[in-house]
Amino acid sequence: MNQEELIQSFLGYFGGSSEQIRIFTSPGRVNLIGEHTDYNGGFVFPAALTLATTVVARPRNDNKIRLIASDLEIMVEAELDDLSKYKDLKWGNYQLGVADELKKAGYVIKGCDLMYDDKVPLGSGLSSSAAIEVATAIALVSLGDEAYGKTKKIDMVQMALIAQKAEHNYVGVKCGIMDQFASAMGKKNHAIFLDCKDLSYELVPINLDGYSLVIGNTNKKRSLGEGKYNERRAQCEEGLSILRKKFPEAAFLRDLSVSDYEEHKGMLTYDTIRKRVEHVIYENQRVIDSVKALKEGNLKVFGELMNQSHDSLRDLYEVTGIELDTLVDEARKIEGVLGARMTGAGFGGCTVNLVADKAIDQFIKKVGKAYKEKIGYEASFYISDIGDGGREVEITL
Ligand code: GLA
Repeated sequence: MNQEELIQSFLGYFGGSSEQIRIFTSPGRVNLIGEHTDYNGGFVFPAALTLATTVVARPRNDNKIRLIASDLEIMVEAELDDLSKYKDLKWGNYQLGVADELKKAGYVIKGCDLMYDDKVPLGSGLSSSAAIEVATAIALVSLGDEAYGKTKKIDMVQMALIAQKAEHNYVGVKCGIMDQFASAMGKKNHAIFLDCKDLSYELVPINLDGYSLVIGNTNKKRSLGEGKYNERRAQCEEGLSILRKKFPEAAFLRDLSVSDYEEHKGMLTYDTIRKRVEHVIYENQRVIDSVKALKEGNLKVFGELMNQSHDSLRDLYEVTGIELDTLVDEARKIEGVLGARMTGAGFGGCTVNLVADKAIDQFIKKVGKAYKEKIGYEASFYISDIGDGGREVEITL
């Protein structure tokens, strides 16, 4: 929807005038490499997409928040004074969780009407939830204190941390910081090399010279609330607690090098735990190697690291499944594909593929056909354009 349509649609739901309306947006992300490393204090390498959630917002004179999604005919009405009671909402809990956490962090939050236009496919592994959370955070903070955007600048890292807290405390997924950070801090044509231990980061220009990042969506719906994500996280913690007998200084698995691990992996006698730890340790190293390869323009090496990452997520971390594996296996058969891997948490969701521009049509045709034959329903494909992070959008009508 363009701005005019967004505003008309907002007025159709909420009535009143367009005078105090403001528009905010925040994107989904694709992670190029570094999966399940963030909550282990490790490295990730995501990029913000141009696919985003847009929020049309207008202040109210009372203490209510009303939410509506432009494509779902659900209106949610919540009392700002008692935000703890909306955790079980099917839709609206991300937004109200953010409002709750912002209040706890001391931000002034005022009553408002918010309409969401989500362009990040929901539940696809492209961080539709982080896009909603970060867009909500910017909208609520900006409406709560009008100085934001005029004399005051919003602390976007803080917004990412608050959005993550909402997901932990309100939604119940103990996610890392990658998605919210990428959604808040993304930059057009750059990927973010982020150290999740101290949130230091570097924006790395993505210049793929004749190649593109193509996203394949399995269209398998999944929800991380089902518990497998939190289970993986707990297994990493268990592995760390065993290895800390040898490395008492290690605060995260990330503090152990590949050679530390190889020398002491015998301590991990339970095979499942050993496999989880092995993935994390090597995946961290692959992120560092990928950033180096991309800076040197060595796409072939980056593609190989992408492949290794997927294989490790399949065999050691065990979060892929037949849908993601089929998309990846079929992708690797196509000439001109340098690397293919799942992106995000796994268990369904999306793959990211490094594909020669001239092979993209063939890629989509052949991989799509083979996927449909094997899985029984269609995959979708998008060329990923790397966009900017969360922000207020100037209304130009
Ligand atoms: C989800 C989580 C992230 C990260 C990825 C896996 O997207 O929200 O924090 O852990 O899974 O890399």
